[in-house]
Amino acid sequence: MENTNLKDLYINFFVSKGHVQIPSAPVVPENDPSVLFNTAGMQPLIPYLMGQKHPYGTRLCDYQKCIRTNDLDEIGDGTHHTFFEMLGNWSLGDYFKQEAITWSFEFLTTVLNIPVEKLAVTVFAGNDLIPKDTEAIELWKKLGIKEERIAQTVEDNFWIAGDTGPCGSDSEMFYWRSNEPVPDKFDPEDDRWVEIWNDVFMQFEKHEDGTITELPKKNVDTGMGVERTTAILEGKTDNYASSIWKPIISLIEEISDLPYEGNEKSMRIIADHIRTAVFILADNAGIKPSNTDQGYILRRLIRRAIRHAKKLNIDVNSDWDQRIANKLIDMYGDYYQEVKENKQVVLEGLSNEKVKFNRTLEKGLKEFEKIVSNLNGDLLDKDLAFKLYDTYGFPIELTVELALEKGIKVDEEGFKQKFKEHQEKSRAGSEQKFKGGLAGNSEVETKYHTATHLLNAALKVIVDKNIHQRGSNITVERMRFDFNCDHKLTDEEKQKVEDLVNEWIKEGLDVTVTEMSKEEAIASGAECMFIEKYPDIVTVYTIGDVSKELCGGPHVKNTSELGHFKIKKEEASSAGVRRIKAILE
Ligand code: ALA
Repeated sequence: MENTNLKDLYINFFVSKGHVQIPSAPVVPENDPSVLFNTAGMQPLIPYLMGQKHPYGTRLCDYQKCIRTNDLDEIGDGTHHTFFEMLGNWSLGDYFKQEAITWSFEFLTTVLNIPVEKLAVTVFAGNDLIPKDTEAIELWKKLGIKEERIAQTVEDNFWIAGDTGPCGSDSEMFYWRSNEPVPDKFDPEDDRWVEIWNDVFMQFEKHEDGTITELPKKNVDTGMGVERTTAILEGKTDNYASSIWKPIISLIEEISDLPYEGNEKSMRIIADHIRTAVFILADNAGIKPSNTDQGYILRRLIRRAIRHAKKLNIDVNSDWDQRIANKLIDMYGDYYQEVKENKQVVLEGLSNEKVKFNRTLEKGLKEFEKIVSNLNGDLLDKDLAFKLYDTYGFPIELTVELALEKGIKVDEEGFKQKFKEHQEKSRAGSEQKFKGGLAGNSEVETKYHTATHLLNAALKVIVDKNIHQRGSNITVERMRFDFNCDHKLTDEEKQKVEDLVNEWIKEGLDVTVTEMSKEEAIASGAECMFIEKYPDIVTVYTIGDVSKELCGGPHVKNTSELGHFKIKKEEASSAGVRRIKAILE
């Protein structure tokens, strides 16, 4: 089965069950400063799982771009990826266990044509807080899963994204990936049974003090990894041998003139890291390689890919990276508009970082050899590791990897400490940022939401009535707003926009929320992104007579609550898109 088929089959199936397909949220969360990247399909939906009304309705499905960087060291084996796509369907207080389980079963057995004999499931066994999920057990049995194929656990059948937030018991589905006969009894510890899907029955919220309370509504959150499931269905134990990765691996074989066999690790790392870099660079958040936050992850990925290209004797100054990126853009462009639209940004981003790193790579490698030959013992200390980072741009894992090849350990903890001290200034800033909280609904952020609508409206009045929002990101420290515009704003334009927003704040305009039909909203000229994807009834926020936008909220009641609005920066975000960073003081 083709990767693309799995995505299409999934979406078509859930749309046929009354779900609205929502676009993938950017890899960089728009209103959730507590994480650097979206790590699961549910992440951008947290406010809605917590009770906020979603503009697209109560049944949603999508494929979400996800990035997980916690196991960067594992990349190179056959099953880990930094970037992956997660399929998901959600009920926001709509259907619950019965439909979720029935549809999961139907999709697996009738759309993917998996024989029931090859399926097994786990369900929540029960603890002091939540009873055993007998309902799920009965439902699976009724559908034809034999009792001995239903295992019960506590630990593995409770799902939460981090430490706090929406959570609940879950039921996981497993597939028998082996040519050996399927055993009658399901043993979740037998790794020939592989997990392909997870249905989470999200009805609780976990708080910081560890207590658990009921959410206002019972939700369903599901997740199926595209790469993993595709490989499994194609009978591959190495994900990189599946149809998803084949074109990329073949291209790397061609570029390096080496076979995959025997060079798996470097080829997987190059394929994985360049793919993730393409998606980060293509994101409308406008991330560039840097030494902080997402930019630093991006830098590390590109640099590590370069180093493995070198290991394969690829001429790292050639266009090898551009060729791989182009292939990826071709493969994903139809599914993710921004990948196509920001092609130039992606290619330039990769190329610039490559030039920067290649300039110091040779010297750095020489310095590394020198350090190693002068080493007493087998530990490379934090100061030397920091020198390699600071002077030669070696991300720590590059130093660790090089050292490992020589049987040397690196004082990683010491390095991290030093790195942290070095970043003292920006750290103070980001700690502040992290206080924003998961759902991003703090009072300050609420103010920024409203200020975002005012800025959007002011840009239309002062600069061009055809300006629309292209992206938005809010932290407790500032707002960021991306919009289409073909020129750098002049100082005069910026001043006028700022003045107009402040004038509206001073006027004390009421912010009101109404529900109306989509047609009515369009007719009234309400501003929105992706109108075609909205349900029939939408929520519209109106600010005096200056702004009207489809939006899920939250917002202040009156603009007088906002304080003084100030534009801090106006810059290019991507081709034809400008970015404003502004604060309320
Ligand atoms: N959020 C659930 C997961 O990631 C579905 O497994």
